[in-house]
Amino acid sequence: MSKGELIIPQDFPVLQNDTFLKAARGEEGHHVPVWCMRQAGRYLPEFREFRAGKDFFETCRSPEACCELTLQPLRRFAFDAAIIFSDILVVPQAMGMDVQMVAGKGPTFPEPLKEPEDLQRLRSKVDVDKELGYVFRAITLTRHKIQGKVPLIGFTGAPWTLMSYMIEGGGSSTHSKAKRWLYQHPEASHMLLKMLTDVIVEYLLGQVAAGAQALQVFESHAGILGPLQFQEFSLPYLDDIARRVKERFKETQQEVPMIVFAKDAHYALEALSQSHYQVVGLDWTIDPRSARDRTAGKVSVQGNMDPCALYAPKECISDTVRTMLEGFGTRGYIANLGHGLYPDMDPEHVGAFVEAVHRHSKLMIKQK
Ligand code: CP3
Repeated sequence: MSKGELIIPQDFPVLQNDTFLKAARGEEGHHVPVWCMRQAGRYLPEFREFRAGKDFFETCRSPEACCELTLQPLRRFAFDAAIIFSDILVVPQAMGMDVQMVAGKGPTFPEPLKEPEDLQRLRSKVDVDKELGYVFRAITLTRHKIQGKVPLIGFTGAPWTLMSYMIEGGGSSTHSKAKRWLYQHPEASHMLLKMLTDVIVEYLLGQVAAGAQALQVFESHAGILGPLQFQEFSLPYLDDIARRVKERFKETQQEVPMIVFAKDAHYALEALSQSHYQVVGLDWTIDPRSARDRTAGKVSVQGNMDPCALYAPKECISDTVRTMLEGFGTRGYIANLGHGLYPDMDPEHVGAFVEAVHRHSKLMIKQK
């Protein structure tokens, strides 16, 4: 196949491992599928070597680099899904904001939104093909290069998480600048959340057209909201995204599972399980059995081992995994961590996690 053909989103290799897609549909395969948030990341020496000296967002804009970084963890571990290397902050960039990745500090917006007038600085209509076409090309290229080994997950940040970055200008422990907007400027907050929702819907549809086989929406800052604020400023937008994306699938007869990961939103488990998502991602603070009870079998679930459990000796990882599998059961379940891998984690322990999920779940399914 020539290089040109690799960026045309058609004639993709046939999928060989559908355990992830089966689990997302609520079914059971011959083992429980597993992947890790941030599986393409700094815990891998080959990742650090490849990224060395290059600007983070420049890397995101290179389809070849994104493809290589997405494939790296698959060469080491028997992950059952890949997630495209990119970042949630490419959406604020597409809306006209400057975002830099500053070493030692993380993502930084030199000119964050301060007051509602600042919304005028944003593009209200975004041509996603023009502004985010590089992500679509990365997805298409990667989908070809994965050669059907596992499905490729696309993703986006959720409106509230992106709004909080756009106002805070970077990471924050209190998110008080962004939360101030919710109390002082509720109308402008809703306007911004709506603008983000519209862009996100087009962005996700573009990812599917490019070849993404599942979609995850990261509401990483859900925990900073209380139940009432979540209900007003997060949930309606999350649900609207899934509803609108799925509505458009009907037209094209596509079926792409959608995962919602609202970190620390324990209080919203019931509501999320009744939303338009097929899979609810869980952080490690939720007990597997109570998560199953509270979602009442309406959705598949994904998660939720404490990432820090990977610091334990390998034998302990195996026991923790078994307990987690017993809690969730093997049907309609995707094993993952409760949040992303940290840069100081030992790749061998990540391997032990993946291996333990496969080994224990095969036994459990056989013994049924
Ligand atoms: O492997 C994967 O999960 C796919 C790639 C991915 C990245 N970011 C790559 C990345 C994904 C899914 C994200 C999502 C993302 N980005 C989220 C949501 C998930 C979460 O963690 O809650 C958030 C909040 C961001 C914003 C962001 N980007 C942060 C907070 C950081 C870390 C900054 C730091 O210095 O620690 C980034 C940078 C980033 N995105 C890295 C990677 C691998 C590390 C920096 C690097 O490669 O130089």
